[in-house]
Amino acid sequence: MDGPLEVLILCGSPRPDSSTHRALEVAGEGIVRAGGIPVWADPWMGNLPVLGTGGDNHPAVAEHLGAARRARGFLWGTPEYHGTCSGMLKNALDYLSREHTEGKWAAFVATSGGRQGAAGTLITLRMVARSLHLWTLPEEVSLASSAKAWDQDGKLSDPELASKLRRLGVGLVDALRCSGPPRV
Ligand SMILES: Cc1cc2nc3c(=O)[nH]c(=O)nc-3n(C[C@H](O)[C@H](O)[C@H](O)COP(=O)(O)O)c2cc1C
Repeated sequence: MDGPLEVLILCGSPRPDSSTHRALEVAGEGIVRAGGIPVWADPWMGNLPVLGTGGDNHPAVAEHLGAARRARGFLWGTPEYHGTCSGMLKNALDYLSREHTEGKWAAFVATSGGRQGAAGTLITLRMVARSLHLWTLPEEVSLASSAKAWDQDGKLSDPELASKLRRLGVGLVDALRCSGPPRV
C-alpha cells in the first residue's frame, strides 16, 4: 500500500474541553497505534465560511480541501444537536464532494448530553457518508451523558468505552491498509 495512511479528523464542536474532541483524541490513539497519521482539522474548521456565502477563496477552504484530498480516511465526531450533527461539522462536510472522498473510509463518533446516546446522529452521519461514496466502518461510538463521562484527570470513567474508541481508530486504519488505493 503506497503513501502515508492519513486520517482527517473533523470535530463538530469548537468548545474548550469538548467531550467530542476528547473522545476523538482517544480514537486518535488507536489510529497512531495502528500506524496511521491523525490530521486534525481544528486549525481551520472554525474559520470555514458557511458554504454558499461567497467565501470560497478563504484560506481555510483551501486547507480543508487539500487535507481532504490527501486523506485516506476520515474520522467524524459531533455533539448531538437537536437529534442530529452540529452545523459546524455539516458545513465542513458540505464542502466535500466525491472527488475528495470516493473509495475512502470513514468512521464516526457522536456524543450526547442525554442518557439515550446519539444513535440517531450516527445514522445521519452514515447517510452523509453514503452520499459522498465513502466506505464506512460498521463499528461506531455513541458517548451518552457526556458531562459525566470524564473523571477529574480528563480520562473516560468507563474503560470499556475508551477501549471501544481506540479500537475504532485501529479498525479504521486496518480498513485503509486492506483496501486498495482510492481511485480519486
Ligand atoms: C444546541 C444544542 C442542542 C443539543 N441537543 C441535544 C439533543 O438533542 N440530545 C442530547 O442528548 N443532547 C443534546 N445536546 C447536548 C450535547 O449533545 C452534549 O452536551 C454534547 O456532548 C456536547 O458536546 P461537546 O462537549 O463536544 O461540545 C445539545 C446541546 C446543544 C448546545
